[in-house]
Amino acid sequence: MNAVFRSGTMNDAMACGTICYEAFKAIAQQHNFPPDIPSAEFAIGLLSRVLSRTDVYSVVAEIDHRVIGSNFLWEGDTIASIGPITVIPDAQNSSVGRQLMERVLERARTRQHVGVRLVQSAYHNRSLSLYTKLGFHAREPLTVLQGPPLKLQQPGCHVRPATNADLDACNALCLSIHGHDRQGEELDRRLLARADRASPRHRPRLAHPRADPDPRQLAVVGHPRPLPRHARR
Ligand SMILES: CC(C)(COP(=O)(O)OP(=O)(O)OC[C@H]1O[C@@H](n2cnc3c(N)ncnc32)[C@H](O)[C@@H]1OP(=O)(O)O)[C@@H](O)C(=O)NCCC(=O)NCCS
Repeated sequence: MNAVFRSGTMNDAMACGTICYEAFKAIAQQHNFPPDIPSAEFAIGLLSRVLSRTDVYSVVAEIDHRVIGSNFLWEGDTIASIGPITVIPDAQNSSVGRQLMERVLERARTRQHVGVRLVQSAYHNRSLSLYTKLGFHAREPLTVLQGPPLKLQQPGCHVRPATNADLDACNALCLSIHGHDRQGEELDRRLLARADRASPRHRPRLAHPRADPDPRQLAVVGHPRPLPRHARR
């Protein structure tokens, strides 16, 4: 399939978002899972925000001027991240996904990122096979929990909405655990400031929403109580 590849623009949000929804829905339904993305509108909104970011490199695939897929490289951190990558279902398995991946990997090499990461659904064998052939190694499994929140309190852990004042501490914590920074979220710091001024409906979420979602909330941070002396390593 002779696709043409170019950078994405805000004008691609509708086409890329619709494909993103359809592609994830198709593979989820084949495996009897609920779709990762709830609606086409949600996907269009998500990709509008992604396409407007200056720290995200985008690639769009087209055939005869019709958009058939897209991919994104998040460049703000030491370890760049990829996604969402999606190809319209009727154009899949024709190497478009591979070429979208090769383009963002080439970009990451050019910018000398020390690593790239992505997350994929365990049931998607074709994308697993594609990423493995491109040199990715599976690092750790993640679990998605669905259903109504239990609203339980973790003993010894107080969870509260995050504020700008938490960002340096969160960055230091990431560095100590994962060995790389989250400086790219400096941009999110500005997003936080901007979101403070936005109407509640348009405020983004940056991290884990609380059990009872509050539309004014952006992110939450947890404060564990210090471990008792005998339990410390
Ligand atoms: C993932 C996705 C973007 C791949 O796009 P695509 O255009 O179908 O991918 P390609 O045709 O370039 O590559 C598919 C690879 O899987 C391989 N493959 C296909 N069927 C396979 C099978 N049954 N077993 C093993 N490998 C298989 C192909 O050989 C190809 O690898 P190759 O290029 O080395 O030959 C597309 O399937 C998609 O949009 N999926 C839904 C959304 C999604 O899951 N995104 C990924 C989230 S991380």
